[in-house]
Amino acid sequence: MRALVPDTAPDGGPHHVAIIMDGNGRWAQARGRPRLFGHHAGARRVREVVEACPDLGIKYLTIFAFSTENWKRTQVEVAGLMSLFRRYISKETRALDARGVRVRFIGDRVRLDAKLIGLMDQLEEQTRHNDSVHLTIALNYGGRDEVARATKRLAEDVADGRLDPADVDEETLPRYLDTHVLPDPDLVIRTSGEARISNFLLWQSAYAEYEFIDTLWPDFTAEELRRLCTSYGARDRRFGAVPA
Ligand code: FPP
Repeated sequence: MRALVPDTAPDGGPHHVAIIMDGNGRWAQARGRPRLFGHHAGARRVREVVEACPDLGIKYLTIFAFSTENWKRTQVEVAGLMSLFRRYISKETRALDARGVRVRFIGDRVRLDAKLIGLMDQLEEQTRHNDSVHLTIALNYGGRDEVARATKRLAEDVADGRLDPADVDEETLPRYLDTHVLPDPDLVIRTSGEARISNFLLWQSAYAEYEFIDTLWPDFTAEELRRLCTSYGARDRRFGAVPA
């Protein structure tokens, strides 16, 4: 069953890690710098983390870059983040491709500007044969929004006679989610000391293990990721069953 199979790397570490990269603003403020300075530092961390994945047995890495709620930030911060995403994609495409990283985006593209969408499409297309690490970037993503969009498409299939309501079970909805080609996350990490999931991968993380750590995202290192993977390996994931 898709959602309930424990998925581990050969050494017992997580196969799919999802990260809520929080704390960029506080990191910048602590240095007397504008919030965008922190986002730029955060973007540099992404490269180190992606590069660490193969050694740690992490095949899937999903990162939360911009939520459906982040539009509530100031116009300056939103525009700065959008410009950072465009720059990141233009600058990192070659390195990601050379490392065999396959990049996907999840989230609703309707509010994103055409130039950014073009770059996203191109990065997905250019890396689509890669298989070393599957990097998924959640951009204008919200778990509730994703479930609502999925439900709408499911309802359209019912209305058009392609789907019988009697056949709808918990295997059906995931096929309509943005993440339909990905396994469920095994480990969800949130940096910056906040212990909430903020609308990230709501359906997919039903049985994930969680790590809430104090480190601010721009200070997060591959070494810390290694430590979290090791501690994941020591956890007993029972998926509702009793120990054998
Ligand atoms: C949350 O920190 C972070 C974000 C809303 C943006 C995440 C973006 C990045 C790490 C930058 C680049 C990502 C890619 C894929 C290039 P916050 O601003 O809420 O921090 P705070 O809680 O300290 O204010």
